[in-house]
Amino acid sequence: MRERLLAAERVTAIDWRKGTLRLLDQRLLPLEETWLSYETAEGVADAIRQMVVRGAPAIGIAAAYGLVLGLRARVAAGGDWRAALEDDFTVLAESRPTAVNLFWALNRMRDRLERLKPGEDPLPLLEAEAVAIHESDREANLTMAQLGVDLIRKHHGGPQKILTHCNTGALATGGFGTALGVLRAAHLEGLIERVYADETRPWLQGARLTAWELANEGVPVTLNVDAAAAHLMKTESITWVIVGADRITANGDVANKIGTYQLAVTAMHHGVRFMVVAPSSTIDMGLESGEDIPIEERDGRELLEIGGKRVAAEVEAFNPVFDVTPADLIDAIVTERGVVERPDTERMAQLMSRKRLH
Ligand code: MRU
Repeated sequence: MRERLLAAERVTAIDWRKGTLRLLDQRLLPLEETWLSYETAEGVADAIRQMVVRGAPAIGIAAAYGLVLGLRARVAAGGDWRAALEDDFTVLAESRPTAVNLFWALNRMRDRLERLKPGEDPLPLLEAEAVAIHESDREANLTMAQLGVDLIRKHHGGPQKILTHCNTGALATGGFGTALGVLRAAHLEGLIERVYADETRPWLQGARLTAWELANEGVPVTLNVDAAAAHLMKTESITWVIVGADRITANGDVANKIGTYQLAVTAMHHGVRFMVVAPSSTIDMGLESGEDIPIEERDGRELLEIGGKRVAAEVEAFNPVFDVTPADLIDAIVTERGVVERPDTERMAQLMSRKRLH
């Protein structure tokens, strides 16, 4: 399976080469494939804020490379580079609030910095740490793809219709994707009759990114408005809803793209299974429950305008971009450390005491 997935890989969104970070501008997809280059931590923070790069694991990876760029500039400027680097940690950490992968990656970079021995050159060591964060995310996705497929097959061995939300593919991660990685692998195993992709208002990650990634690989995909999900579950014998996550708390609650919570409620009503796929870098054992997760609210213009043109009446808009699905609506959380069925505090703690499977 690993080799077949590697062979099917088409898309990447983050490219680190010769000390320059290049990001595929996801605001322009699928109409334009434009790569932008970054040389500063502040530039990378801005790219995260503006969603040039998006998706929980991908923003963590980009932030790690951003810190390397910051370090290079601080060392070149001379003086107390360690103190100056704190500004880069801050600007990157403030770029987006909900996905914990961002803070997880910055903490890993800080830990590496603190383990430097006297006289060691920090730049190659921190660069190696950022590359390791990137590569281990790809590896985690390959492991999760296999585990997710095993879980699908355990309940039903034939081709089936599966609903997904937002974009959790190669674009949102270090490669292959989380939930989308499972869908890719399931397609290779003959388990997909059709993927239904929610368009994912207002930013349209489903319409612009998920549909593009799946169609590029020949996976049968149909786009639907978010509000069609209940109707689809009732009329199309959907077997699974499979989504990613931006932060999972110690009790198994899951923050993910706005609209996920109502999908989980609807899935329970229709007897459709609900799977969350995310690497352990998305799990925040420091927060007891989803109530503690900061939920990003973005500019109301994302709702009020289309393509920069006002389409709504002159009213205020409420634009929270994530919501929290309670653990008791989730059948399984798939991570690279293993699968937790019917997640709760005890099972999450057991999972986090295990090592990665690969
Ligand atoms: O606002 P975004 O596009 O950065 O949202 C994050 C996501 O991509 C999703 O919520 C996703 O389901 C989890 S990240 C693989």
